[in-house]
Amino acid sequence: MLFTQLIQANLRTKALGKKIEYYNRIGSTNSEAWELLTLGADHGTIVLTDHQFQGKGRAGNSWFMGAGKGLAMSVILNNKYSLKFLGLISLAAGIAATKSIAQHGLDSKLKWPNDILINDKKVGGILCETKIKKNAVKNMVIGIGINVNEANNEFPDNIKDLSTSMAICSNHPHQRERVTAELLNSLESLLQMIDHDPNKIVHEWLDRCGHLNDPIRFIDQGKVIEGIFSGLDNLGNAKIKTDLGNRVYRSIY
Ligand code: BTN
Repeated sequence: MLFTQLIQANLRTKALGKKIEYYNRIGSTNSEAWELLTLGADHGTIVLTDHQFQGKGRAGNSWFMGAGKGLAMSVILNNKYSLKFLGLISLAAGIAATKSIAQHGLDSKLKWPNDILINDKKVGGILCETKIKKNAVKNMVIGIGINVNEANNEFPDNIKDLSTSMAICSNHPHQRERVTAELLNSLESLLQMIDHDPNKIVHEWLDRCGHLNDPIRFIDQGKVIEGIFSGLDNLGNAKIKTDLGNRVYRSIY
């Protein structure tokens, strides 16, 4: 059980989290967010669940959440953002997640496009989905998953060795309501920054990047890309040195 009043008591936001749609159990908060958008959901509405059983990950992967242990939420954005800033919105969500985790005494790192890692193991991930109309982002759903209180033996065998949780790293449980509220507080400030100081997002992300100038392998539009991660351009696209030369990749389409 998650206490939505406790989340709201810790919020300092104008829009994000003012409305929370909470479900005891749901397939995917991102899928539900899109349903709610068809019914006219407000900008900033949060979809949250205590048990996500069909979570979606990037590149068609699934996402595991320990029932009653993890954090699975989707943030609905209705404001029209310019298409060119799409990548920055997704990076802002990763930064907000690391800031919230840091408020619990843990140092997490970002891995492009948007993995959140502690000690090289995955503690969280972001899945941004968009509807684009007339060259602008019409609607956007930012899905955020964080392993908060899962024990190692609760992860499925195929991800056990690659995953960690905040509780595993600190040897004590964390209040998911606080993690949620702190993340939303940071995310709203970062989103406000996108229009007037987009470079700040790039710098904040690079400050938390754990793999600058390291080899990287990721999937871009169904294709495996390999090269050296050499930073971000000023729109948040990845600069990769590949065998074919320097290339730039978007994190989101
Ligand atoms: C990844 O690293 O592959 C992205 C994982 C994103 C998971 C979150 S959990 C909340 C939201 N709802 C979903 O179905 N997926 C995202």
